[in-house]
Amino acid sequence: MSRSITYDEKRGILRLDTRNTTYAIGITDGLYLGHLFYGPHLPEEDFSVRSAFQRPLSALENKKEMCIFMDSFNFEYPGWGVGDSREGAIRVRDSKGITRTNLLYQGHRISSAKTLIPGLPSTFGGEGDVETLEVDLQDPDTGLFVTLFYSVFAECDVIARRVEIRNTGKEKLVIERALSMSMDMPGRDREGRSFQLMTFYGIWAREFTKDIRPLGFGKTGVSSIVGKTNNRNQPFLGLLSEGATQYSGEVYGMNFLYSGNFASTVEKIFSGDLRVSMGIHPEGFSWTLEPGEVFYTPEAVMTYSDEGISGMTHHFHDMFRKHLIRGKYKDSKRPILINNWEATYFDFDTKKLLDIAKTAHDCGIEMLVMDDGWFGRRNDPDSSLGDWFVNEEKLPGGLKYLSDELEKMGMKFGIWFEPEMVSPDSDLYRAHPDWAITVPGREAALSRNQLVLDVSRADVRDYIIESITKVLSSAKIAYVKWDMNRHLSDLFSAELPPERQGELMHRYVLGVYDLQERLLKAFPDLLLENCSSGGARFDPGMLYYSPQIWTSDDTDAYERIRIQEGAATLYPLSCLGAHVSICPNHVTGRVVPFETRGHVALAGTFGYELDITVLSDEEKELIKKQVKLFHRFNDLIRNGDYYRMHSYQDNRLFDCYGVASKDKSEMLLTMLHVMNQPCCPSRWIHIHGLAPDKLYRITEVKDEPEDSNHASLDGSEAAKASAQEILAHGSTLSNMGINLPCRTGDFMSVLYHIVEVKDAGESVEG
Ligand code: GLA
Repeated sequence: MSRSITYDEKRGILRLDTRNTTYAIGITDGLYLGHLFYGPHLPEEDFSVRSAFQRPLSALENKKEMCIFMDSFNFEYPGWGVGDSREGAIRVRDSKGITRTNLLYQGHRISSAKTLIPGLPSTFGGEGDVETLEVDLQDPDTGLFVTLFYSVFAECDVIARRVEIRNTGKEKLVIERALSMSMDMPGRDREGRSFQLMTFYGIWAREFTKDIRPLGFGKTGVSSIVGKTNNRNQPFLGLLSEGATQYSGEVYGMNFLYSGNFASTVEKIFSGDLRVSMGIHPEGFSWTLEPGEVFYTPEAVMTYSDEGISGMTHHFHDMFRKHLIRGKYKDSKRPILINNWEATYFDFDTKKLLDIAKTAHDCGIEMLVMDDGWFGRRNDPDSSLGDWFVNEEKLPGGLKYLSDELEKMGMKFGIWFEPEMVSPDSDLYRAHPDWAITVPGREAALSRNQLVLDVSRADVRDYIIESITKVLSSAKIAYVKWDMNRHLSDLFSAELPPERQGELMHRYVLGVYDLQERLLKAFPDLLLENCSSGGARFDPGMLYYSPQIWTSDDTDAYERIRIQEGAATLYPLSCLGAHVSICPNHVTGRVVPFETRGHVALAGTFGYELDITVLSDEEKELIKKQVKLFHRFNDLIRNGDYYRMHSYQDNRLFDCYGVASKDKSEMLLTMLHVMNQPCCPSRWIHIHGLAPDKLYRITEVKDEPEDSNHASLDGSEAAKASAQEILAHGSTLSNMGINLPCRTGDFMSVLYHIVEVKDAGESVEG
């Protein structure tokens, strides 16, 4: 097997090759680690062309212009205060207060493995999946020793980067900035087009809004400073050729496996060239490193595609599905759940829950999730967070009785927690006011009338784990929804000395990871779903712990199409929490047909969030049909490749996406006519993602699987195909397209099943 990572000793060049990309690093003067190239796969030995016509700009030979060298060199991991006017990736203060940080090459190692990162989420892979390059850099004037890690996932076209920072000296060092990656790259693509910036912004109930904008000179990017990733900005950063589309143009994508403060930045300099970086936000951050200690940065993943945005999407989907998401549900179907939040809010009891469960079970739903309000004295959002004991007034007989009854019915049981929080009106807060993150003597800012627990503290984490474990051991509980409904403010930890208060935000995130890791260790079969006021902590870091995340509190299918489109650009459909809810929708007041709501939720984890006991018989019949669709198509949806054909965000009228199986033998195509136009009876759709030379049969998916349950047809079956059936090759469907009829009414959706016809012979004519 050819190696992904190679070293050309003569030229001092390290190459990282994936299936379709090459990344190259050069060691200049044996000292400076420079970025040479990241882009499409290049022939070997060709890197000499890069420097052939350049004036030698050697730092060693031309010391009187050292600053010019430092300011123009394409660094892999730039330091601080050494003549480079661009932003550094690392800044370390020594015991004299000096922040000059000058990193010089020391050596490197290549291995056919990848280690996990202590205490942090981490991509993983066995031999054959991944190779790792470790490059050592050292500041000759301090004890600072830095190792850059590049793990190459060749099949996924992804490189994961992270950094270890060691104090090998005798005095303590203070890290003030420690990014996970930096890359100096040209500002134009191979056709001379400028790169544009793609990010996703939002707010509660409006997460994952795509933004593509030109890059001006100076620094731009996205960030969070509220102690968690949030709904305002995804940590993701994309660079797109001007005019790039879903299927053309060069695209660089970077994402961050971290759930706290981040900065994803692009700096465009006078020449138009770019410095791209990603890491923990340096604002308010500091970390004291005693002699012998190590600091681990979180990991960043990056990919390149010259096949437009969808190329990047496929790389990330494969990477996250195979090398990030773990556990029992990594590759398997999740139970169809019904959550009582929008059905009852806080107003429920055992009887109401069992009524919902009974009706749901009759319709084929498999799990009841009891949301907020089952503990302490919580009948509204104003109290009891932290008091994780059952409210027996609402739930007589406790969780045991409820879960036993559910089990008798054949239903699984799931439960909501918000472990990182405490209500000022709670027994926990009255007993341990110093466990909340507040500044003593100053009034703390409340949000949803709650405070954040200082989970950087081991004693606080122990309390949380003990109380959750007690609840989960008291009944048969298959699922936990882990919520987090506010961000951090009033930063102060009673445990940390003054000079370490800058560590709180990062220690908080490490505390969250520790909690979830311990929970999964104790309950390995648990299905964990993360949530944060909807999608306010939806990032690749959380996906390491939970295979699914609640995408948004906005369950209006019309809004969800847009939100899920944004989320699906980066994350596999298998991890997008999506439910059918009641209309008029509780967030928007909009009415969308029940069928459409089902079709939209199918492109996610799928479940319900409504009072099923008050639905009409007709609606309950529709649920049964949607449940059948889930069972029929969920394997394809979870494992397939996602193709976005049209977006109503761009055309305001209709939306179209498909999921194709890896072998391209079938596709489920979803067509949504968002706005009915009587003048327009149909839409031309060019279908991407099919094999050009395969023949396909296209059938509208009706409630019953009349188009057969088989993923492919043999010749004799195809011969029986009626004259009305649509048969066409993949090339025709992408080049000529297909005319799909519009439905009367707004928000109408139709599913089409496109199935390969094998050996159709003469029956295919016409
Ligand atoms: C958050 C979640 C909701 C629900 C409520 C309960 O808003 O996003 O789904 O769980 O909390 O308080």
